[in-house]
Amino acid sequence: MSAFETHTDASRQYQSGFANDFATEALPGALPLGRNSPQRAAYGLYAEQLSGTAFTAPRAHNRRSWLYRIRPGAVHKPFTRITGDRLRAKLVANFADVPPTPPNQLRWDPLPMPAEPTDFIDGWVTMAGNGAAESMSGCAIHLYAANRSMQDRFFYDSDGELLIVPQQGRLSIATELGKLDVAPFEIAVIPRGVRFSVALPDGEARGYVCENFGALLQLPDLGPIGSNGLANPRDFLTPHAAYEDREGDFELVTKLNGALWRADIGHSPLDVVAWHGNYAPYKYDLRHFNTIGSISFDHPDPSIFLVLQSPSDTPGVDSIDFVIFPPRWLAAEDTFRPPWFHRNVASEFMGLVHGVYDAKAEGFLPGGASLHNCMSGHGPDAETFEKASKSDTSKPAKVGDTLAFMFETRTLIKPTQFALETAQLQANYYECWQGLTKHFNPEQR
Ligand SMILES: [Fe+2]
Repeated sequence: MSAFETHTDASRQYQSGFANDFATEALPGALPLGRNSPQRAAYGLYAEQLSGTAFTAPRAHNRRSWLYRIRPGAVHKPFTRITGDRLRAKLVANFADVPPTPPNQLRWDPLPMPAEPTDFIDGWVTMAGNGAAESMSGCAIHLYAANRSMQDRFFYDSDGELLIVPQQGRLSIATELGKLDVAPFEIAVIPRGVRFSVALPDGEARGYVCENFGALLQLPDLGPIGSNGLANPRDFLTPHAAYEDREGDFELVTKLNGALWRADIGHSPLDVVAWHGNYAPYKYDLRHFNTIGSISFDHPDPSIFLVLQSPSDTPGVDSIDFVIFPPRWLAAEDTFRPPWFHRNVASEFMGLVHGVYDAKAEGFLPGGASLHNCMSGHGPDAETFEKASKSDTSKPAKVGDTLAFMFETRTLIKPTQFALETAQLQANYYECWQGLTKHFNPEQR
């Protein structure tokens, strides 16, 4: 059985819908009715608003939630800067500070699993990005590799929203607003500021994180596609309220402007008994993506594979596009079926969750990554081109058992010093196109 046939119906464990106005309580009557801030909340809870957009953002984009919790988020000791750790030193949040971006096509082997005990937060390394956390524009692209659950340790990201793409190993993400179980082929989105802790049910985990400094991810408009298709809203799942009432010597960690800070906290911050609103974590099974493509000739631009977008201030131009290349039928006839050769104004960071990407016969490994920046020429490798040029296109063919994805951005994706110096960088990547020999013959059409 292929990994793409292992659907599970998780919808009953979660609330369904994209950015709905959810309402959920773990104790009956914990959620106030008809108001947000009663003089005394039920069960002795504190009311707290968590806003994810400006108060005055237009209603369609306005995101906030009301939390009813055992202690307010303000209750913790002062933060002190975490310094000195090898991996923590590899976090980048201002991409004015990275080395000059080479115009070369770049590709990396997968990040090795850590040799030392490393939890989800300590296991991050920044590969590339653009903009800056402090100006709330752009993104940072991290890889994570971890082999230990976060123990009595909680994290929130002050710099951005986290789009997590697991490649290996499940993540059990306990958040203030409830619990998300996420496996490879699924994604999780944790909003800026939401506190959480990650356990690793499989012992080890590896994957990708796009840290979005800018506008919150949203579903794209569908235009002529109509009212259904691509990622359908009901397949996005948000947890029900769940809380723990636990006291002890715990640690609260945050990332602010690229630096990690820690504070002692005497209780679990996952103590929200009830909440309502539209600012909440969610997950999505990429196997539910309704993939749309050509049934005549010429496959469409990869924007047809768009799952989520972070819009910019320019209509039609996104700061981040999250695009997937899932299993699908190729039915276009008398045409070149793999992605064509291209040079784009947008910049493309790709990852591979599973299988083989259809434009690269070899070298692009699950857990690996590639980066094709603005105007960098790329496309199928020589082997793929030769095979596709001769293949029989009179019958449909299945691209099966694969899942690649792309973080595509409007501005340059600048690799970090780590990314340019790591042993995982493939020095010979350019060779995959060197076998594209001259076929030109002016005597023969
Ligand atoms: Fe591309």
